[in-house]
Amino acid sequence: MTTSFDHVYDRRQSGSLKWDFMEQKLGLKANDLLPMWVSDYDFQAPPAVLEALNKRVMHGIFGYAERNDDYYQAITDWYHNQHSISLRREWITTVHGVLPGLSMLIQMLTEAGDGIVMQTPGYGSFRKISEFNERTIIENPLLESDGHYSMDLAHLERCFQSGAKAMIFCNPHNPVGRAWSKDEIKDVAALCGQYGVWLLSDEIWGDLAMPGHMYCSVLSLPEELHKQLVVATAPSKTFGLSSVRISNFMIPNAELREQFVRRLDAHGMDVYNSLAICAATAAYQTSAGWLLELKGYLHDNINYLADFIATELPTLAFHAPEAGYLAWVDCRQLAITDKELEQKLVTAGIMPSLGIAFGEAGSGYIRLNLGCPKATLVEACQRLKNALVA
Ligand SMILES: Cc1ncc(COP(=O)(O)O)c(C=O)c1O
Repeated sequence: MTTSFDHVYDRRQSGSLKWDFMEQKLGLKANDLLPMWVSDYDFQAPPAVLEALNKRVMHGIFGYAERNDDYYQAITDWYHNQHSISLRREWITTVHGVLPGLSMLIQMLTEAGDGIVMQTPGYGSFRKISEFNERTIIENPLLESDGHYSMDLAHLERCFQSGAKAMIFCNPHNPVGRAWSKDEIKDVAALCGQYGVWLLSDEIWGDLAMPGHMYCSVLSLPEELHKQLVVATAPSKTFGLSSVRISNFMIPNAELREQFVRRLDAHGMDVYNSLAICAATAAYQTSAGWLLELKGYLHDNINYLADFIATELPTLAFHAPEAGYLAWVDCRQLAITDKELEQKLVTAGIMPSLGIAFGEAGSGYIRLNLGCPKATLVEACQRLKNALVA
């Protein structure tokens, strides 16, 4: 049976970072390269979102906008219905993206030279926003055993003892795809509380837990653990709205929240993009069914890749992500350098994210974006095989 997710859209010449900027960003001749790197979908946003945006555009007036009751209600309903989390409306602050918000929190809560913990292999932009703000990244490497990742809590405690001021916690984790369990997040939050470390929990991938797995927000922990906590959420990964630029930071601690809102004000970020508000409201209000269907499609893609690797490329190892549509593929048995790996893949016409971009612990891995029609994935797998089977 074909679905709307099977449709292959031509994204070239649409200003797409993933499709149009490989040459500029990666220095690669990109004419025939199949991009499996940047994590966005090659699917259209949900039909109800397109309809709401069309209507808003045709209204034709784009004066200053604010978030209305529908916006807040859509978010609180979403977290209640999808994740059984009782958000209080007043916790919600809105920023033009998760990274800008995290960067402002780093500036607000820490000082130049301070240590910020991230777990590696980890999302490279956490390092970027910390180091560009003159903070120092302290790595807490994840433990890997037979493809399963867990957190090294003893080492995390040593990171905190060494004076770290904040931790950027990726929950669920990009790139390894772990949806951390309640016990795991409780341990992290308790350690942060014990050492007075700000816990910045990036939960942008939270809506994309795969069948059989659950996303557990740190907001679901008891209130006594909320004092030092900020949770970043967004409709962007969930509904394919990355360039619409809108995210919501949930801050239960009133004093911290007021400080953050003042900081947004100080940057003139107290007004909002009317199209972003419209898209986010419509998505959260209407698109739970769409998301359910899409998650089934993504799960099929994940299974297809797993079968392909098991049968055609047994020197690679792949464990399905618990959340998200990013495949973290272990190529270490090929015993080649990251540069050689990239060269082989590019020559065969496929561009993944290289694992090394997620820190030393990612060396020998690639990350493939499976948020694409099946036909694109089938082609990518073929190219992977052409690249790696001698
Ligand atoms: C963990 C994580 N946080 C944040 C972002 C980017 O968020 P935004 O585009 O809202 O700044 C990404 C994008 O891949 C991500 O994987």
